[in-house]
Amino acid sequence: MRHIHIVGIGTGNPEHLTVQAINALNATDVILIPSKGAAKSELADVRREICQRYVTNQATRFVDYDVPLRRTAERSYVQSVDDWHEAISATYERLFLEHLAEGQSAAFLVWGDPGLYDSTLRVIERVAARGNVALAYSIIPGITSIQALTASHRIPLNLVGKPVQITTGRRLAESFPGIAETAVVMLDGEQAFSGIDDPDAYIYWGAYLGTKDEITIAGRLGEVCERILATRAEARAKHGWIMDIYLMRKGHDFDDRN
Ligand SMILES: C[S@@+](CC[C@H](N)C(=O)[O-])C[C@H]1O[C@@H](n2cnc3c(N)ncnc32)[C@H](O)[C@@H]1O
Repeated sequence: MRHIHIVGIGTGNPEHLTVQAINALNATDVILIPSKGAAKSELADVRREICQRYVTNQATRFVDYDVPLRRTAERSYVQSVDDWHEAISATYERLFLEHLAEGQSAAFLVWGDPGLYDSTLRVIERVAARGNVALAYSIIPGITSIQALTASHRIPLNLVGKPVQITTGRRLAESFPGIAETAVVMLDGEQAFSGIDDPDAYIYWGAYLGTKDEITIAGRLGEVCERILATRAEARAKHGWIMDIYLMRKGHDFDDRN
């Protein structure tokens, strides 16, 4: 049996790492570091910095691997994600067989928390289900980009006693405002907020949260929408990539007091 630690590392600030995560990394034989091409090498750098700072076990080995690219041509979104997970699971299986002896362990450093819009757990389950390599696995929770966003803006996630919707850009237009007074939007390459027909809604936007390049903008959507669009475009051109998230809010605490 080989053991896989799926370790949440927070969203860019090495100080997001929990003591539980540091202990898991030091108890592991191999740490697997993904490389996603030059544009996102800064993300690989954060993982390296975390290892340099916290991994004191001299016996730990580090293995870099290439993440297969997701193919989108001639297939639906769901099919393309399914195919992609299958390709990554083949890569993982090969890594486990090549780099881990029976009884050894490996760790994946997962951005944010492994339970939030991340495929690592699902892919590990695929590898285990295929049955070519016997696996046990555990998850160490991490600080999510949602927590990084609300902390940077110094706002609570929810209104008092109210629900929160977590969604992607593709789904925002059909559900806000509506299902909940608060929506958190992740994975939005289309800037869906600019299509929301409610200039009185509030938006709390953040990019590169937790890193030295963090940017935040907040205000009434109708007043800050253009500034966010321009700032985002400029930052994306400068860095070659962007990770941003935002919270949209309609209403206030105790609006329905009566
Ligand atoms: C694949 S999801 C991973 C989410 C991650 N597991 C988490 O717990 O936050 C990537 C999305 O998370 C958000 N995100 C992650 N890190 C971020 C950061 N440092 N700043 C802003 N948004 C971030 C963005 O919406 C990005 O498109």
